[in-house]
Amino acid sequence: MTPDRVRGRLWAVVPAAGSGSRFGGEVPKQYLAVDGQPLLAHTLQALLAHPNLEGAVVVLAEGDAHWAGWSTFAGKPLLTCVGGRARADSVLAGLAALPDSVRMDDFVLVHDAARPNLRAADLDQLLERGRNDPVGAILASPVRDTLKRAGDDGGIDCTEPRERLWRALTPQLFRRLQLARALEAAREAGVDVTDESMAMERQGLRPLLVEGAEDNFKITTPADLARFEFVLSQR
Ligand code: CTP
Ligand code: MG
Repeated sequence: MTPDRVRGRLWAVVPAAGSGSRFGGEVPKQYLAVDGQPLLAHTLQALLAHPNLEGAVVVLAEGDAHWAGWSTFAGKPLLTCVGGRARADSVLAGLAALPDSVRMDDFVLVHDAARPNLRAADLDQLLERGRNDPVGAILASPVRDTLKRAGDDGGIDCTEPRERLWRALTPQLFRRLQLARALEAAREAGVDVTDESMAMERQGLRPLLVEGAEDNFKITTPADLARFEFVLSQR
């Protein structure tokens, strides 16, 4: 074992190849300036500030004109690659672009570029507990709202029990090769997995839920961006 492995260092894949269609606007949301920095920089900062993070692969859209061209961030190496049509395609590309020093059975973090408000303590917990799980783990938050099932007419058919329902967040922590195989299997089956865990679950695996802060939200709409701006102003 190398000294790095003894310290438990690992790499992250950061999918940033989306077009932000729900957010709208000319500039993809991951590049919108918040407090003088692109959103992506806030996300990379939250991730790479962790001492166990060795580097990251940022997955970019084909022909991305906004990428700043960083080859390091927070003193750590950044690699890039080109993503695909769906998020899962982008993550697969990112896994393939990891350096050879990341072994096939090493754990890798996947974290949305659009999720800038990750807490160090949550990342700690995920790494601590996830690396002791045979499969891996995800940050998640219990559903707090009452859930309604809508009918075709927009009326409420019923109330769904929210017990044991969780909202899946990122980062998600899985082994490099196992995750790649699971994402490839979903793609071959034509299943559009919306997170890494879903691909693993399809393989009959049971990732661990690690409860994280609810404010690790994803920037999907302008209201989310306003929320993040507020969070920053309160730090
Ligand atoms: N993502 C990606 N490749 C894709 C689609 C999404 O790398 N083909 C990334 C996004 O850049 C984002 C993360 O996956 O960091 C989560 O996706 P989402 O919030 O859905 O972002 P977009 O797909 O860009 O937004 P929308 O769905 O509104 O178009
Ligand atoms: Mg999307």
